[in-house]
Amino acid sequence: MATIALRQTSAHASRASSVLLGLAGAAGLALYAANDNQSSYKYSGSSSNGNNNNNNNNNKNNGGNYIKALFGATTAANINNAMCPEGKKYADFQEVYNDIAKKVRDEDDADRGAGRYGLLVRLSWHASGTYNKKENSGGSYGGTMIYSPESTDGANAGLEVGRDFLAEIGVKYPWISRGDLWTLGGVVGVQEAGGPKIPWRPGRVNATDESKVPANGRLPDASQGASHIRDVFGKYGFTDEETVALIGAHCLGRCHTWRSGFDGPWGPSPNMFNNAYYVELLKEWRVRDWNGPKQYEDVETKEYMMLPSDMALKEDSVFVKSVKKYAANQDLFFADFTKAYVKLLENGCTYPRGTKYFEFKTLDEQEN
Ligand code: HEM
Ligand SMILES: *[C@@H]1O[C@H](CO)[C@@H](O)[C@H](O)[C@H]1NC(C)=O
Repeated sequence: MATIALRQTSAHASRASSVLLGLAGAAGLALYAANDNQSSYKYSGSSSNGNNNNNNNNNKNNGGNYIKALFGATTAANINNAMCPEGKKYADFQEVYNDIAKKVRDEDDADRGAGRYGLLVRLSWHASGTYNKKENSGGSYGGTMIYSPESTDGANAGLEVGRDFLAEIGVKYPWISRGDLWTLGGVVGVQEAGGPKIPWRPGRVNATDESKVPANGRLPDASQGASHIRDVFGKYGFTDEETVALIGAHCLGRCHTWRSGFDGPWGPSPNMFNNAYYVELLKEWRVRDWNGPKQYEDVETKEYMMLPSDMALKEDSVFVKSVKKYAANQDLFFADFTKAYVKLLENGCTYPRGTKYFEFKTLDEQEN
């Protein structure tokens, strides 16, 4: 039986804030101080697009005004403008954060000691991992996972548990959208497990019918290798390095035979956000001899697992460089993960220029 290490929240918290300041400085992000009660933005209806997620695909090869005009029209139709719920401020979202975090804490022993951190992070990722940069379609904006065929996508098996976990919080705060609730749940999962602070912005809007539901097949297949991973994450708009940084979230949670067919946690601390995934991956692994799909077990303890897609990060000559970097330097992993995860959660959402990010306090920080 795997030992579950205790979370060291205070040490993580101070490191996380310095990482965050570095990120904010580098990217020029405006952040709310945690006690800043400035009201959040309200969408003004202006056409300014503040981030790089609007579909600015000026493809030089598609020349011709007709095609450009057509392309422009298609693009405009696909823009999803973020609209913060009327009158809602930082404190309102911190309250929702706290309710999610308290429920996570109450269920700390769930899932054989993994808790709910991984479940919530996976929900936020699958809600966002339907994005296609070229079309600017899919992504977290509409909270479309309740609709078919996304709801019944095999890749999303088990995520109804995560959606149900958050549903009572959605009922208590009916002004929040599913996209905001599910992505905020991921922020809670990372932060409460001792990970970095994840700057987050509200404004996703519930889809009310199936018209915006993306086709299945945009999420990665765990039985495949490096070229598949590069293809899938390339379509989201991620570099190889960002891809490896994101998959480091496999430090959290575990695989469930009744969901994906795969079995087990990636390492000894599935309730802690750290760089253990890379450290484990660089150890010795062999194919597990069992009745399930092909997966790997660590030679030393046989208690941990890797998916074929995880092993691909070690086998690929480019991916493995990032794996080694993050195994050697957790601060670097935290900084790179934060940037890539913020981008993942906001893919397909367009924010008015200058929209500020919220940085939420953990429960521990509020108690100390
Ligand atoms: C090549 C890319 C990826 C593949 C093939 C993959 C595949 C999987 C599979 C098969 C599971 C097991 C699901 C279950 O049985 O419950 C899983 C779990 C998980 N994945 Fe990934 N994943 C990938 C990337 C990511 C990324 C980018 C993130 C987050 C940023 C992520 C976060 C998680 C988490 C936290 C869990 C644990 C869920 C739980 O504890 O219930 N994964 N993944
Ligand atoms: C979004 O939909 C959920 C149910 O899926 C509901 O609880 C919530 O109130 C809706 N939010 C808004 C802002 O309409």
